[in-house]
Amino acid sequence: MGSIQLKTAVPGPKSKALAERRAVAVPRGLSHATPIYVAKAEDAWLEDVDGNHYIDFAGGIGCLNVGHRQEGVITAVRDQLDQFLHTCVQVTAYENYVRLAERMNQVAPGKSPKKTLFVNSGAEAVENAVKIARAHTGRSGIIAFEDAFHGRTMMTLALTSKTHPYKAGFAPFPGEVYRIPYAYCYRCSYSLKYPSCDLFCARHLEDTFKRVVASEDVAAVIAEPVLGEGGFVVPPPDFFRVLMEICHKHGVLFIADEVQSGFGRTGKLFASEHYGIEPDILVTAKSLGGGLPLGAITGRAEIIDAPGPGGLGGTFAGNPLSCAAALAVLDLFEHGNLLARANELGSRFQKRAREWQKRWAIIGEVRGLGGMQAIELVKSSDKREPASDETKQVTQYCYEHGLITITAGSYGNVIRVLVPLVASDAVLDEGLDILESALRAVYEKRGIVAQTV
Ligand SMILES: Cc1ncc(COP(=O)(O)O)c(C=O)c1O
Repeated sequence: MGSIQLKTAVPGPKSKALAERRAVAVPRGLSHATPIYVAKAEDAWLEDVDGNHYIDFAGGIGCLNVGHRQEGVITAVRDQLDQFLHTCVQVTAYENYVRLAERMNQVAPGKSPKKTLFVNSGAEAVENAVKIARAHTGRSGIIAFEDAFHGRTMMTLALTSKTHPYKAGFAPFPGEVYRIPYAYCYRCSYSLKYPSCDLFCARHLEDTFKRVVASEDVAAVIAEPVLGEGGFVVPPPDFFRVLMEICHKHGVLFIADEVQSGFGRTGKLFASEHYGIEPDILVTAKSLGGGLPLGAITGRAEIIDAPGPGGLGGTFAGNPLSCAAALAVLDLFEHGNLLARANELGSRFQKRAREWQKRWAIIGEVRGLGGMQAIELVKSSDKREPASDETKQVTQYCYEHGLITITAGSYGNVIRVLVPLVASDAVLDEGLDILESALRAVYEKRGIVAQTV
């Protein structure tokens, strides 16, 4: 790979043939952002079954921060393949599980002694965080945010905000979940402006305890330090500190869902570090496993120890291959320059996207933290009406021209960048060239935009 190469129109004949088989064999409820079937992947590149090469700005939705098929990960998994595949940690445990827990406890933000439990996915990790918070506090309520995404299992759907396509038709969901507005300053629920708002949205938690649910009935507040599926929204620097102060005043735990914002994406191993906070429970998954399924729940030891023996677990949870891969991922972060690279890629993206924003009023906001970057598209900058259809057209233009991108946001009008952090400047720039052409093609040709801001 190493250069965009389109041997066929996209999708090519082999991808099309697979799509026909898939339509018969696989439920329509599983959707695909592109019509491409993959044959190979490497670093920040994908090759499809028709021999077309693409730059990958999606990274398996944030699972490939270290890059596709990194040598350290492959070697660790191969070594593990030669030892054993599965024993079930609840029957006979193995050292890699313990070693990985030790390392997670070391790298998690804050100095308190910690413990870590491993599971198979982000949703399963969130489920366990809720179980642990309830066991520790003896309370049941969980407060989640508007625009949050926490997964597709029943409890995590209850915590998730977006109705279509995630929640509609799947009720009833587990109860005792309450929702409050996030610090989405571009679309502030209270029509206020930071900093003159004095973080009204965070302070409003006190009001929620008076008018919605009593604090003594609330086990935890759960939040993504940067919204993932919700559109890469970055709250003001002091938002989480204020929120956590209120939580702790009332004996409520704070759970940080770092499934998407974690593992180096934002230029620190965990986005929580940017805010100077130590979450009571930290949830990770996605890039932790370097491409293999793994989720983790890390937190203060006395909290994580609340459930009794046998209360936590799962047959495949913390399986040996995933643990081996995650240890290699941690090595790559410790010994490489991936965190610095996340910041460099992020700055390069911001510079370019801000030029677009000056040129085209349809770019409502350019935002992000480190390598977690996005643009929010609007029909016009004054009314901020989401440009959802146009956003889909941009991503379609992109994959047809050799760039895989994915959308986000409650209105589907955000284009997010989760490019593997091993991408070179040249690869990033080539991808951004395509994105720029896509924006031009979709908007200028339709005469929607001509304004300069
Ligand atoms: C913040 C966040 N939490 C939880 C999840 C669910 O993770 P999984 O799809 O591994 O269950 C996701 C997935 O996108 C996520 O972004």
